[in-house]
Amino acid sequence: MLINKNDKILIIGAGGQIGVELTENLNRLYGSENVIVADLKPSSALSANTFEQLDVMDAQKLFEIVKKHTISHIYHLAALLSATGEQNPMFAWKLNMEGLFHVLDLAKEKHISRVYWPSSIAVFGPTTPRVNTPQYTVMEPSTVYGISKQAGERWCEYYFHKYGVDVRGLRYPGLIGWKSAPGGGTTDYAVHIFHEALKTNTYECFLGAETALPMMHMEDAIRATLELMHAPIEKIKIRGSYNVSGLSFTPNELAAEIAKHLPGFSISYKPDFRQAIADSWPQSINDEEARAHWGWQEYYNLPKLVENMLTNLKSKNLAL
Ligand code: NAD
Ligand code: SER
Repeated sequence: MLINKNDKILIIGAGGQIGVELTENLNRLYGSENVIVADLKPSSALSANTFEQLDVMDAQKLFEIVKKHTISHIYHLAALLSATGEQNPMFAWKLNMEGLFHVLDLAKEKHISRVYWPSSIAVFGPTTPRVNTPQYTVMEPSTVYGISKQAGERWCEYYFHKYGVDVRGLRYPGLIGWKSAPGGGTTDYAVHIFHEALKTNTYECFLGAETALPMMHMEDAIRATLELMHAPIEKIKIRGSYNVSGLSFTPNELAAEIAKHLPGFSISYKPDFRQAIADSWPQSINDEEARAHWGWQEYYNLPKLVENMLTNLKSKNLAL
């Protein structure tokens, strides 16, 4: 990885599921004094870093933070996710789009030199081929979250071509980690299930037993993010956002793997509104461009992921 120790980083939405782990990793690479964290409110998980209270809709405050800390790179993570977005569609659209424009405009005006902005498998929709979904295909998302991510991808490409903005992104699948709680997505069951399994040896799943979705261990997701952001510029050939694949499984398959470690573990199913969202998304992802362009390779398969989650949650007594 090409690390420039003069870079100064701002993470917006640092207190969320990805932000907490990304902060830890960027601290290791750059030193915590070079990683500024911003969110609506402080979090004890970010205590090693300088915290700035920020609503990303406030462009002036964002500008002042960037100038105050001479920020060069922004990781912009603040968003409403798929399930919470459906509860308040117009607010989700406003937050997800305005926040992105504020960050892209700072890069367009040359106040910062690089932007990371995550997209999602939610850019795909019910008319997309669902198995081994390619980078380039039919994309008709049916959630406000997916619509905002698809529009965001187009704007990232636009800012790159029109203004030379070095913006990079990944279409994350559902992310599963033991250090932080998920923030309102359709894939959240795949984190909650571990906590409930350790507490009660049962879980009631809000998706049906055979709902296959693309997923990824958080360590893989953070590594993909850092590899993309530190790749030489000539290797980045897609500015909208790259497909990245980790693994795919159904709730039934995840439960069976958990039961190998926790005998007697049982799962029941009570699908809710999130089922329709999941049914509109791919079951598996083809990420050959990410592999060919900047060398992406996942580490976690299902047995490794389940073992890692249970061991860490148990040994650190973290089950919520
Ligand atoms: P999260 O909900 O856990 O965290 C988002 C953080 O942003 C929270 O700490 C929240 O307080 C903060 N935030 C919300 N509104 C804000 C505002 N107006 N100003 C400043 N901060 C604000 O989300 P996450 O899972 O960490 O996701 C981060 C990004 O990655 C999002 O863009 C999301 O769409 C994307 N993503 C996540 C997943 C996943 O499975 N977690 C998958 C695909 C894409
Ligand atoms: N994990 C995310 C969600 O379910 C995918 O973007 O919303």
